[in-house]
Amino acid sequence: MQPQHDDPVAAPPVALLPAANHHHPQPALAGEKTVAGVPWRYGDPSAVLDWGADLGVGSRSRVRAATRRAPPTALGAPAGRPLAVKILAKDHARFSALDVRGEVEAHAAAAACPAAVALHEVWEDGDAVYLVQDACTGGELYDRVRAQGRLPEPDAAAAVRAVLVLLAHMHASGWAHRDVKLENFLYAGVREEGVGVSGDGAAAPPTPSSAVRGPLLGVDFGSAARLAPGESLAGPPAGSVPYLAPEVVAGRPAGRPADLWSAGCILFAALVGQLPFGGDTDDDVLAAIAGGVGGVPRGTAWARVSEPARALVAALLARDPGARPTAADALNHPWLLAGGECGADGGPPPPLSRDEARGRARDAAREAAAAAKGRLASAAARARERVRDAMAARAAAKAARLERRSSGGGGGRG
Ligand SMILES: Nc1ncnc2c1ncn2[C@@H]1O[C@H](COP(=O)(O)OP(=O)(O)OP(=O)(O)O)[C@@H](O)[C@H]1O
Ligand SMILES: [Mg+2]
Repeated sequence: MQPQHDDPVAAPPVALLPAANHHHPQPALAGEKTVAGVPWRYGDPSAVLDWGADLGVGSRSRVRAATRRAPPTALGAPAGRPLAVKILAKDHARFSALDVRGEVEAHAAAAACPAAVALHEVWEDGDAVYLVQDACTGGELYDRVRAQGRLPEPDAAAAVRAVLVLLAHMHASGWAHRDVKLENFLYAGVREEGVGVSGDGAAAPPTPSSAVRGPLLGVDFGSAARLAPGESLAGPPAGSVPYLAPEVVAGRPAGRPADLWSAGCILFAALVGQLPFGGDTDDDVLAAIAGGVGGVPRGTAWARVSEPARALVAALLARDPGARPTAADALNHPWLLAGGECGADGGPPPPLSRDEARGRARDAAREAAAAAKGRLASAAARARERVRDAMAARAAAKAARLERRSSGGGGGRG
């Protein structure tokens, strides 16, 4: 299908409007050859892609395996390589041309660093916008933490290092990520003939072996927002409930430090096997984050975490955003510099106290029950709903405020 050439959205998005503001399908941008250096082509992508299996479903998209037949130009995805195509349907309630453009710009900025999946090209037809990325075939960080319960410290260090490398790069290039969570980091897989992806582009089941897991990559930039140095955003909250920083939950302006808090949640989950702030309902989780209680179990798993690793968790989960390290500073934390190997400085984890030992059986039973119920998964699903509702409510309030002020330009900042 042909693009619509009267699309009003022609200026670069300075402040991305929240998705909740766009409940009507809109055409994406027209008349462009590249966005942030990424080729943006109009037409049916099936003209150049052979489709494979479904790889995943997100709240705004579905992702399908594909391979590209010979590229028509020097720009674009390499032929024959395993690709993952994120399909953002235009009739989806949360589709927004402005947001998709913002996602492509954020992804392009992030992909200049090795901790983000490559974005090769974008296609657009009447039905959807298609983000053509490298396929990650090494499995999901989320699945790994769920399956293993907790990772060996060197593996947890490698994972949070990848998250921090991505954040340091995005923060330096003027972006806040705003949806740092386990689900948004996938292992790239090792590209070898016959490993990870079958001939027709369908993904093979992820294998647990580290030999084929490859590096950890950020895959989802749909919530990112431009941020001047030191700037905070006071718009609707973005992100997933269990990972929200206290200042976001409180509705205060939030900036880069909120990403560091979320990275702290990932590190905690990797070290302990559970997210730091839990609860039976999203309200419980939000209350735990706001009050600093109800989460952070001090039981068995935490007792086994080394002192230097705990110190980094504590720094990232500082309640005062100003007290959190920057991503660049966090990368220089001694535990990360040591690759998570707890050497002379760290020593072995402290022995369990009598109370902790008694709590061990209780914790284990509780963790097993929670795992059996798939609580982590359902909490994440509920969290998504909750954030969506909160975003819609706040966006509506904000829109009403702006309307009242009727001053024109303010954008998404307050
Ligand atoms: N490059 C990739 N390779 C393999 N699988 C992928 C890739 N990108 C995404 N996926 C799978 O698709 C899922 C959805 O992708 P993504 O997070 O980008 O979508 P989304 O609609 O923005 O999701 P949400 O808003 O719910 O986080 C991922 O959780 C993952 O399982
Ligand atoms: Mg996602």
